Amino acid sequence: MNKPWIAPSILSADFARLGDEVNAVLQAGADVIHFDVMDNHYVPNLTIGPLVCQALRDHGITAPIDVHLMIKPVDRIIPDFAAAGADWITFHPEASEHVDRSLSLIREHGCKAGLVFNPATPLDCLRYVADKVDMVLLMSVNPGFGGQKFIPGTVDKIREARRLIDELNPGARLEVDGGIKAENIRQVAEAGADTFVAGSAVFGADDYGQAIADMRKELEA
Ligand code: DX5
Ligand code: ZN
Repeated sequence: MNKPWIAPSILSADFARLGDEVNAVLQAGADVIHFDVMDNHYVPNLTIGPLVCQALRDHGITAPIDVHLMIKPVDRIIPDFAAAGADWITFHPEASEHVDRSLSLIREHGCKAGLVFNPATPLDCLRYVADKVDMVLLMSVNPGFGGQKFIPGTVDKIREARRLIDELNPGARLEVDGGIKAENIRQVAEAGADTFVAGSAVFGADDYGQAIADMRKELEA
């Protein structure tokens, strides 16, 4: 089993002070920075692109950046994110015409590749590309906005994804994204996740260190 990672989503950060916000969550114990990219086409919201990723690198941030693409198409922006300092790039299979090709493209550009599954998207395609997947990301809300409520039916799907990963590519990470907080993180971990995105639960807290410590305590309990 991979070491658990807590990945604050900067979607809920104060964008006017983004560099400081990222440094603050790293100081507070974050393992990786989750970077949500939305295009007002695949999802009904618009956020940030490679320029902002590069700006974080230029600001001296060296922590892993986990880029979650909620955009369609995906291929033409992959090289730009790799050049801008992304470490992980994940995309939704329905947003790519050629899932196998997009996964290969991410790896060819030196990044780790992952597939993201919406709450109602079956995991079927994973079986055919498992050797090219470094991370499976399960959405526990419908993508597009931070601060939504965790969809309980996701827990069974996490178990299903864990079984598939153990069978097909045991080293791959299993990340869960949406509505995660100290109150439910243990249930998500027990179902088999090892990487936990938390946006509002971290950036909405007065004390980021306490918020991350509370989650970590649940994982260690
Ligand atoms: C939703 C994003 C998530 C979101 C998580 O589309 O992919 O990463 O920011 O935020 P919370 O933790 O507030 O649900
Ligand atoms: Zn995300």
